[in-house]
Order: sequence, then C-alpha cells, then structure tokens
Amino acid sequence: MANNSSRFSHKLIETNVGLLIVLSILVISFAGLVQIVPLFFQHSTTTPTPGVKPYEPLNLIGRDVYIREGCVGCHSQQIRMLSSEVQRYGPYSLAGESAYDHPFLWGSKRTGPDLARVGQRYSDDWHRVHLRNPRDVVKESNMPAYPWLQRNSVEKADVQARMRVLRKLGVPYTDEQIEKAPEQLKGKTEEDALVAYLQGLGVAGRDAAAKAVAEGAL
Ligand code: HEC
Repeated sequence: MANNSSRFSHKLIETNVGLLIVLSILVISFAGLVQIVPLFFQHSTTTPTPGVKPYEPLNLIGRDVYIREGCVGCHSQQIRMLSSEVQRYGPYSLAGESAYDHPFLWGSKRTGPDLARVGQRYSDDWHRVHLRNPRDVVKESNMPAYPWLQRNSVEKADVQARMRVLRKLGVPYTDEQIEKAPEQLKGKTEEDALVAYLQGLGVAGRDAAAKAVAEGAL
C-alpha cells in the first residue's frame, strides 16, 4: 500500500497537478518513442508490398483531389485485422501497401465504408454516377455530391512538381515518368482522376495481403 512517509509516493504525485502533468508527459513521450521509432527502421513498414508501384500521374492527381475534398473525413483506408472487416472488405491492409503514400490516408473516421480495397469493385460509370449524386445509386446515402469534379480540367495541374517532391521523399519516379506525366492528363477532368485513383485502391497489394491473411490466424 502507499507509504505516506516516503518522499516520492503516489500520494505526492496525485495531489500535485503540475508534477502529475510533467510526469505523464514524460511517460507518454517515452512510450511513444519506444513504439514509433522502431517502425521507421522496420523492413515490413518501409518496404513496398510486392506489386505496389508509385501512383500513375493521373491517379496521383486523383489522390490530391481526394485529399482536397476531405474524403478522409468519412472514409478510412485501413482494413483492420478483425474477421468482420476481412469478410467485408478483403485481406487486411499491410503497412507496405502505403509505402508510397505521402501523407498516408489511413484515416480513423468511418462514416462511410473503408476504401482500402474499393478498386475494381464497381465500374467507372458507377463511381461517376455516385460522385455526382450518391443518392442515385444508394438511396439512403448521406455522402455529399461532388458534381463540380466533372467540370474541372486537370490538364494544367503541376504534376511534374508534385512527382519531383515525392521523389525527394523516396518515391522512385524516373526522369522519363516525370517527363511524360502531363501527357496522361490531356483531356482529363478531376472526376476522371479521382475515379482512376479509386479504381487502383488496394488492387496491387491484394495478392500479397491475401497471402499474409492465409498465413495468419484469420
Ligand atoms: C459525410 C461523409 C462522407 C464524405 C465526406 C464522403 N463520403 Fe463516400 N460514402 C459515405 C457513406 C455514408 C457511404 C455509403 C453509402 C454510399 O455508398 O453512398 C459512402 C460510400 C462511398 C463509396 C462506395 C464504397 C463502397 O464500398 O460501397 C465510395 C467509393 C466513396 N464513398 C468515395 C468517396 C469519395 C471519393 C469522397 C470524397 C470526394 C467521399 N466518398 C466523401 C460518406 C461520405
């Protein structure tokens, strides 16, 4: 039990708010460092999952539209290791699947379904109708409509600059890919870009992730 006569007791900490705050911050910072720092050096979190490639220029622009429109505020991209999620969405997400995501979009708010493996689940047309007015395909949907995306061209997007920045962050884009990037955006709209991005989500890493699930307990 608490030894009230000792100078450094629970009682001393619990009755002194300043000391409690300082010690809590210390403990949480230390625990955070112990958990987080090793992840920067761990092979499984820093190496892309087999099959995962840097985003094509059009998908990259689509990803930026996704970020700008705040889709991450309602959709996570992180299938957890729970059998209910694996049954609903597919193999759970591996860290290496987002090795080229700067910033990653795992999210935590799940007003809508997880999108980590939504790629190829619906047709491009389904996505277009859904983005223009979700109620046209899912009657009870409370997702906002994004009708302006089909009117905004992405031809003038500074895609080369974005790719160069990503290259500085470790994404292995070649000079040739950067050189040719604007060609892929010719005649495309923000809607085209967003649909391309959505259709690629979780597709490349699916086989490797399925293998991980098969080898795991689920
Ligand atoms: C206010 C919350 C909210 C926001 C913001 C939102 N969504 Fe949704 N989304 C939902 C809900 C709820 C559903 C389920 C009903 C439906 O399909 O419309 C959904 C469904 C979806 C689906 C179908 C998923 C599936 O597996 O059936 C896709 C794809 C999608 N959203 C993409 C987006 C994109 C892209 C954006 C940003 C441009 C976005 N959402 C923004 C709430 C939201």
